[in-house]
Amino acid sequence: MTPDDFAAAIRTIPDYPKPGILFRDITTLLGDPRAFRAAVDELVQPWAGAKIDKVAGIEARGFILGGAVAHQLSAGFVPIRKKGKLPHQTVRMAYVLEYGQDEMEMHVDAVAPGERVLLVDDLVATGGTAVGAVKLLRAMGARVEAACFIVDLPDLGGADKIRAMDVPVRTLVAFS
Ligand code: PRP
Ligand code: ADE
Repeated sequence: MTPDDFAAAIRTIPDYPKPGILFRDITTLLGDPRAFRAAVDELVQPWAGAKIDKVAGIEARGFILGGAVAHQLSAGFVPIRKKGKLPHQTVRMAYVLEYGQDEMEMHVDAVAPGERVLLVDDLVATGGTAVGAVKLLRAMGARVEAACFIVDLPDLGGADKIRAMDVPVRTLVAFS
């Protein structure tokens, strides 16, 4: 599928969750069997046959994609969650995103030092969320091999912030 095909599969909701935000809603893509399969296949394509130990998915939409990506790569899955949701001892990181701020957590033993991790989320906007996730993973000794997203909002500069951390970024469609 082309970037235009992915764009056509994604719904845009104006003024959600706050006035002035154009919310790119990937649930329509997830509900389209062909688009969902194509998105997962294209996200994993550069790492087919590579050694990825874990896929880290960011709550909530990164869980849906990350689980499918981990299965395709025969990798483990690591949930990065909003604070207070994980039952075991965690490491925590504050972050800022396009329409607010929050804290994310990961279990302290979710990755072993030196493990190769692929970070997955549905969308990169300001990059605040993904940058926080890279910092958390690196704090635990992981090697973040790349970050991949279906949607890039390039005007908000997030993908460039992640690349500036020496993490390659893969996205399938951009909305400017
Ligand atoms: C969205 C999206 C990313 C993040 C991107 O999640 O799924 O995780 O925003 O924004 P950023 O690049 O500016 O950090 P959201 O925080 O809305 O949480 P949700 O998936 O639980 O709805
Ligand atoms: N996360 C941050 N900005 C977003 C947007 N415009 N649409 C969907 N998710 C987002």
